[in-house]
Amino acid sequence: VNSDPLARVRGAVAAREAAGLRRVLRPRPSVETILDLAGNDYLGLAREPRVLQAAALAALEWGAGSTGSRLVTGTTELHATLEGELASFCGAPGALVFSSGYLANLGVITALGGPEVAIVSDAGNHASLIDGCRLSGSPITVVPHRDLDKIDAALASTDLPDRIVVTDAVFSVDGGLAPLTELHEVCRSYGAVLVIDEAHSLGVVGDLGRGAAFAAGLAGAPDVVLTATMSKALGSQGGAVVGSQRVIDHLVDAARSFIFDTGLAPACVGAAEAALSLVAKDSRLSARALANASLLASYARELGLETSSPAAAVVSVVIGAPAAALAAQALCAEHGVRVGCFRPPSVPDGRSRLRLTARADLTDDQMATVRSALEAVADQTAPSA
Ligand SMILES: Cc1ncc(COP(=O)(O)O)c(C=O)c1O
Repeated sequence: VNSDPLARVRGAVAAREAAGLRRVLRPRPSVETILDLAGNDYLGLAREPRVLQAAALAALEWGAGSTGSRLVTGTTELHATLEGELASFCGAPGALVFSSGYLANLGVITALGGPEVAIVSDAGNHASLIDGCRLSGSPITVVPHRDLDKIDAALASTDLPDRIVVTDAVFSVDGGLAPLTELHEVCRSYGAVLVIDEAHSLGVVGDLGRGAAFAAGLAGAPDVVLTATMSKALGSQGGAVVGSQRVIDHLVDAARSFIFDTGLAPACVGAAEAALSLVAKDSRLSARALANASLLASYARELGLETSSPAAAVVSVVIGAPAAALAAQALCAEHGVRVGCFRPPSVPDGRSRLRLTARADLTDDQMATVRSALEAVADQTAPSA
C-alpha cells in the first residue's frame, strides 16, 4: 500500500523548484501602472468601450452563462450570428464557436484524425495542437520547424491514404509565419488536409486582419480548415473552427470538446462579435499593430539585440540563458514594462527569450518607455569588454 499517494507530486514540485522552473500565479489589480506587453490583447480591444458594452448587453439579454452544451440550450442566436460573421470575415463557408481556442484545436484534430489518419505536425506548434494530435490516436510525425522538405517526406512515407498537416499560422514563441502557400501545395499533391491555427494572425495579418490563410489566397479552399481564438486580437474569449460546411457539420456530430462542453458565455460572444465588427470596419487597427511590431523589432536590432522581422504583433527578443532572460524580464518590469519570457522546454536550450506584444493602441510615449527598457536589457546583456 502506498503510504503517501502524493509523494510523486511532491517530488515533481521539488525537482521543478531545484531547476528554477516553478510557475507562479500573480493576480493583477484592475488598474495598473505597468505597461502590459505580455498579454495577447493585440488590438487593445479588451477594454474598448463598445466591446465592453456589447458584453454587458449580451449578458443582460441572454444570461450570465449559456446554460447548457451547444447541442442542448447553449446555442443562442448570438452564437449563430458570430459564426456567420467569422465565416464571412475569413472567407469560408462556415464556422463553429467553441468555448476556447484550446478546445477548438482539440475538437477539430480529434474529429478529423484517428488511427487511420496520418498527422504531420510542425515542432513549433502550440500545445493545444500537440494535445489534439495526441488525443486523436493518429500516427503522428513531428517535423522540424517550418521544414517543407520534411513535411513532404513525412506525407510520402505513410501508407495511410488520409493525411493531415497541422501548423500554426504565426508561431506563438518566435512570431514567425508558416509558409502557407507552399504548405498548401505540398498538401494538395498528397490529397492532405491542411489545418491552420490563426490564433495569432486573426485580426492582425492580411487585409483588415482577415488572417494568414486569407492573405495566402487560401480562404475558402475546401481542403483547408482554420482554427482561431477570440481571446487575443478580439479581446474576448472563445475559439472557433472555420471551414467548409461539411467539416462544420462533422464537428457538430463528432467533436467531443464541442459536444460535451457548455457553450461559450453570451458576454464573450457579444464582445467577440462587437470586436470583429470593429476590426472588419477599420484597417488601421491591424495596420497599427503591425507597424508597432516592426518599430519594436527595429529598436531591438539597433540596440544589438537578436530579433527577427515580425509577421504579426509578436516580437521575440532572444536573450540566451534562462536566468539571463528572467533577469531581462525583471529589468523591463523595473522600467515599467511587463513582457513575457520563454525558457526551455518552450524554446530550445540557449534560446530563452523575451516576448513583446506590439499592441495597436501603444502611444508614442509608451513606445519610448519600451525603447528605454530594451536599452537597459541591451546594456545588461552586452558582452563585457
Ligand atoms: C497558437 C495558439 N493556439 C491556441 C491557443 C489557445 O487559445 P485559447 O486561449 O482561446 O484557449 C493559443 C493560446 O492561448 C495559441 O497561442
